[in-house]
Amino acid sequence: MSNKVMIVSGGASGLGLAAGIKFAKNGYNIVIVDVNEEKGKIAEQQIKDLGQDAIFCLCDISNKEQVQAAARVTKERFGRADVLINNAGLEIRGSILQCTEEDWDKTYAINLKGIYLMSNAFIPSMIEQGAGSVINTGSILGYRTVGERAAYSSSKGAIDTLTRSMAYDLAKDNIRVNCVAPGAINTPLLRGSINDSPNPAETEAFLNSKSVLNRMGTSEEVANVMYFLASDEATFVTGATYFVDGGWSIL
Ligand SMILES: NC(=O)c1ccc[n+]([C@@H]2O[C@H](COP(=O)([O-])OP(=O)(O)OC[C@H]3O[C@@H](n4cnc5c(N)ncnc54)[C@H](O)[C@@H]3O)[C@@H](O)[C@H]2O)c1
Repeated sequence: MSNKVMIVSGGASGLGLAAGIKFAKNGYNIVIVDVNEEKGKIAEQQIKDLGQDAIFCLCDISNKEQVQAAARVTKERFGRADVLINNAGLEIRGSILQCTEEDWDKTYAINLKGIYLMSNAFIPSMIEQGAGSVINTGSILGYRTVGERAAYSSSKGAIDTLTRSMAYDLAKDNIRVNCVAPGAINTPLLRGSINDSPNPAETEAFLNSKSVLNRMGTSEEVANVMYFLASDEATFVTGATYFVDGGWSIL
């Protein structure tokens, strides 16, 4: 068993869960940071069943005390942090006029401030170790527009800029920082969004058509790119955004 440690926010479901499984299969121990206790415990067991160690931290990434507690637990249990995947996020529909102030603040607190808090809690261990890799989950919607996503799209666009800023500042500490920008990926988040739409069948067909491959992606297809970016196959890649979008970005 390797002693390398990967921390993933939103690790109880969708892309974060797939990332935990991918890294565990490649010898990492996994720290799952999530607000969903039931799914988090199941994810922890799934990783342990693969023969790696795992801990689930019940933690809202927009809450500084909870994030710092997760970092303390990680340090006590594993004593290190090698890869941080800032992946938890939420999508609330609405144009700039429809979006309530509460929804606006919540989106930014989780999608953006969550990265700030998690990075401040976990990156100091990487600096002590002299190496590390951070991956932020952005979105194609930070680059391409669909209706009624003012808060979500703008927060995801900011993650792209933040990634470059982090990559620049942390290069001297031998820490690489990259971003994955998924297209339509068939996860519980997107399923919820499809089902909440006025015409779910039409929405699904629209999302399929947004890929030149004419389908949605899988969580595993995104996790594979996250793993590549964190690995020694990508030692000269930093400050980059990788689209995992079936070609949406070329349309
Ligand atoms: N699914 C897609 O098509 C798609 C496309 C582009 C970007 N993304 C992004 O990928 C990331 C993961 O999305 P997903 O599709 O896997 O969603 P998901 O809903 O399946 O998983 C998200 C996880 O994040 C957790 N979470 C939510 N708020 C949290 C908080 N405050 N603190 C800790 N955990 C929290 C949830 O409990 C959930 O387990 C998100 O940032 C999302 O914006 C998804």
